[in-house]
Amino acid sequence: MSLKELPGLIDPHVHFRDPGGTHKEDFTTGSEAALAGGIVGIVDMPNNPEPTVSLEALQYKEQIARVKTLCDYGFHFGASPRDNTGEFEKVRDLVAGLKVYMNQTTGDLLIEDDRLIEKVFSVWPKDKPLLVHAEEGTCKRALEMARKTNRRLHICHISLASEIEMIKRAKQEGFPVTCEVTPHHLLLTNEDAVNLGPYGRMKPFLATRTDVEALWENLDSIDMIATDHAPHTKEEKESATPPFGVPGLETAFPLMYSKVVEGKLSLDDLVRLMFEGPKKVFSIKTDNNTFIEIDPDEEYVLTEKDLKTKCGWSAFMGWKLRGRIKRVTIRSSLVFENGQVLVKPGFGQPLSYR
Ligand code: NCD
Ligand code: ZN
Ligand code: ZN
Ligand code: ZN
Repeated sequence: MSLKELPGLIDPHVHFRDPGGTHKEDFTTGSEAALAGGIVGIVDMPNNPEPTVSLEALQYKEQIARVKTLCDYGFHFGASPRDNTGEFEKVRDLVAGLKVYMNQTTGDLLIEDDRLIEKVFSVWPKDKPLLVHAEEGTCKRALEMARKTNRRLHICHISLASEIEMIKRAKQEGFPVTCEVTPHHLLLTNEDAVNLGPYGRMKPFLATRTDVEALWENLDSIDMIATDHAPHTKEEKESATPPFGVPGLETAFPLMYSKVVEGKLSLDDLVRLMFEGPKKVFSIKTDNNTFIEIDPDEEYVLTEKDLKTKCGWSAFMGWKLRGRIKRVTIRSSLVFENGQVLVKPGFGQPLSYR
C-alpha cells in the first residue's frame, strides 16, 4: 500500500444544523464526517431554525462551534426577508460570505421582493462573496441583479444545462460570477431519484441526463465542488413530507476520485475544484502543513456503518468507491487515521480570510 498526499480539502457549503437541529447533525458529528471525507475546512450555512441573520446569532453560533468543532470552520451570514442590511457592516469581517435564498428550500430565509434583493446586493460589501440559492429562471434574475448593482456573485449548487450556459456566457463577457456543483448533481439523475425516493430528494432536484452531461462538458466554467451537506434523519425522510437535502461530506472526495480512476476527471481538476477553487473565491488562508493521505488503490463499498454523520445514511449506499481517506493532518497534527478521529472537539480553528 502506498499512500498519496493531497492538499486538505475545503467545503464552502455545509449545513451543520447547530443550533436548533442537532438531532440531525451538530458541529462535532458534522466535522467528524468532514475529516473522514478529507475535508479540513468547512463553511456553515445560516438557515438554522433561528437563522444566522444578526450579529448576536452569529456570535452565538461561533461560541458553539469553538468548543465542538474538530476541523477548521467558518460561517456564511444570511440575508433576512425582514431586511437585516443594517447588520452587514458589523459582520462583514467575521464571515466568508452572505447567503441569499431566492428559491424555497429548508429554512425561512426566502426573499422574493426584488426591491429588497436589490438593496441586499447593493449594501453587502462589493469585495465580499455574495452567494445565492437561485435555480433556473431565478439564476437569470440573480445574474441580472448582480449586473444592475455591479457586484460579484456566487451561484450555489448549479444543476441545469441552462444555468451553466448562462454562467459560461457571463464569464466570457468578463462578469465576476463563480459557481459550485455538488457531487450528487454530477453523478445522479432524475432516474436515480425514482429509486432513491426521499433519499434522493434535495434542492435543486436531480436533473436529466442531458443536464448532467452539460455540467461535465463545462467543468472548466465551474469554480468548485461543494457538498451542500444537508443531513435530515431517516425518520424525517420517511415521513409524509420529507425535507429537502442529502449528506455529502464523507462521499464527495472518494466519489470524485473514482471518476479520476475512470479517466473522466483529471487529478489536477479535482484539486482545483475541491481545494484551489473554494480557497480562491472565499479568500481562505491555508496552511502548508495541512494535507490528506489517500490510498489510491483500495476499493471499498460504502456502508452505513462507515458513516460519521449523525443522520446515518447516504444516497450513495452500496457504491464501489476508490480513494479512501487514510490520514488527515491539520497544522502538523495527525487528526484522523484509518477511520478514527484523533483530536478532541475544540481542535478546529476559525478560518481566516485574506
Ligand atoms: C438544504 C438544507 O436542508 O438545509 N437542502 C437542500 O436540499 N439543498 C438547503 C439548501 O441548500 O437549499
Ligand atoms: Zn496502496
Ligand atoms: Zn440551496
Ligand atoms: Zn445548502
